[in-house]
Amino acid sequence: MSPISDELIVALDVDHADRALQIVDALGDDIGFYKVGMQLYFAEGNAFIRALQARKKKIFLDLKINDIPETVAKAVGSVVTLGVQYLTLFTQAPQIMAARETVKQRGSGLRLLNVTVLTSETSTFETVKARAALSLAAGADGLICSGHETAGLRAAFGTDCILVNPGIRPATADKNDQVRIVTPAQAISAGATNLVVGRPITAASDPASVARAILAEIETAHRAGR
Ligand code: C5P
Repeated sequence: MSPISDELIVALDVDHADRALQIVDALGDDIGFYKVGMQLYFAEGNAFIRALQARKKKIFLDLKINDIPETVAKAVGSVVTLGVQYLTLFTQAPQIMAARETVKQRGSGLRLLNVTVLTSETSTFETVKARAALSLAAGADGLICSGHETAGLRAAFGTDCILVNPGIRPATADKNDQVRIVTPAQAISAGATNLVVGRPITAASDPASVARAILAEIETAHRAGR
């Protein structure tokens, strides 16, 4: 099992490497896993990925890839070369199968996560469950899903799959534009593997203390569940 600190992934939703690395350096050794999304990746590219890796950080590359299966497979091949840990797809079964085949052929440890439904949208659990079922059957290692669906997905698909929850808000935090939010403790108790937290940490006046409070909440939730 990964250390508890890996369960909290901080989203670097900024458009400059300088600002992103300021956040990373402010968080120091407390945070070992970062999400790099389209905004930062398209601005700073692989040089930024290497800067994070030079700091021994794990990386979740959130590019929500979709295209025809062959193109997806080739794009995943390029990501394999980067040596990141998680990659998002936002796609259908044939593309996931093609991506899985690339990862297998290359002997890579890259984990493929398919997005079920964006957390800014409303949806039924049945829709999410159907997306989850097709994703896992096609070879995804896990899913991006709301904390509200996590317990149901854990019950349906067992302990092996990775379930990553965005839309996490400590009880006291601003909701921003998140619609389907849960607290860190609720997400962990429901069976989330990793929590993605952005603005509550990155926009805080003391990001490290917010991050440490969330890590403490994660640890307490694990203890309560034992
Ligand atoms: O809201 P927060 O800043 O914590 O967002 C962290 C990540 O959650 C974002 O990078 C985005 O991928 C995801 N997000 C989401 N739905 C929203 C807003 C953000 O899934 N409405």
